[in-house]
Amino acid sequence: MPTYAVLGATGTTGSEITRLLLPRPDVHIKVYARSREKLLNAVPELEAAKNAQTFIGLLSDVANMTACLRDANVIFMAVGTNSNKPGTRVTQDTSETLAASLKALRLEKAATGYRPPTLVFLASAMTASWTREHQPWLANRFVYNAGYFIYSDHVASFAYLDKEVPWLPLIKASPGALVEDVASGFRLEPHGRSSETCSYKDLAAAMILMVEDGERDWVGMDPGVFSLGKPRRDLLVLDKLPFHLIPGNVVTWLPWTYRLLRKIRLIQ
Ligand SMILES: NC(=O)c1ccc[n+]([C@@H]2O[C@H](COP(=O)([O-])OP(=O)(O)OC[C@H]3O[C@@H](n4cnc5c(N)ncnc54)[C@H](OP(=O)(O)O)[C@@H]3O)[C@@H](O)[C@H]2O)c1
Repeated sequence: MPTYAVLGATGTTGSEITRLLLPRPDVHIKVYARSREKLLNAVPELEAAKNAQTFIGLLSDVANMTACLRDANVIFMAVGTNSNKPGTRVTQDTSETLAASLKALRLEKAATGYRPPTLVFLASAMTASWTREHQPWLANRFVYNAGYFIYSDHVASFAYLDKEVPWLPLIKASPGALVEDVASGFRLEPHGRSSETCSYKDLAAAMILMVEDGERDWVGMDPGVFSLGKPRRDLLVLDKLPFHLIPGNVVTWLPWTYRLLRKIRLIQ
């Protein structure tokens, strides 16, 4: 039975992934979070689950993370932030702990042969090759800069993982804007070609498919999630444009405005 680890299960994507996996008798689940209370609030089904173990600790706790990742075949890394906070290092910090843990496990299993888990990293269409190549340059810069500190964190994490654990199979899940909506069906697209919006439920199912797709191996790729339904656009148009893209750009160019814009709720 494969073991799937979920990091960031208190978050919207991570809790959706966990909820999809819990009813499955064919997988064992290991969930890592920093607060048990928040975790059980996000996924109450975990309390009675027979096929799941929880690990509570900081993202910097290498020993705890190593215990969580021992025997894992897949890691869903849904840790991250939607806030364009200057100096964001959430995924870099997680990657550092992951790399230290996986190196320790590799040493531990050196005699018997170590097979590293596949890491499915929740990234974004904004760091994917298709978006860079097909979006008009100015539009691309404007949207990228609205989340500059978030995307830079991802890009630095990819470079770090590539340098420290080049033997780790990596899939960069690269969805478009995420919205709270029903699952409407999706297809995976190479090179991060994603629909503008995607529901969190479809993203969770897509991240699982990335490691279970019998027709294609997505390792080493940055698959996009193309929604087959019509996920809500109102968040994109009403929320993301005035309340995210413009203030996000302001923060990128003038980082000292972050606290003020957050205080007056112009950014997350
Ligand atoms: N929003 C979009 O439109 C969009 C589009 C494409 C890609 N993305 C990517 O999706 C990711 C966000 O996913 P989401 O919306 O599911 O996130 P979310 O609901 O905000 O959840 C984030 C998760 O990360 C954990 N986390 C954050 N900072 C942490 C820290 N310093 N230490 C420990 N844990 C920490 C949170 O734990 P706690 O609950 O303990 O805080 C939570 O489990 C980002 O990387 C973003 O770039 C977003």
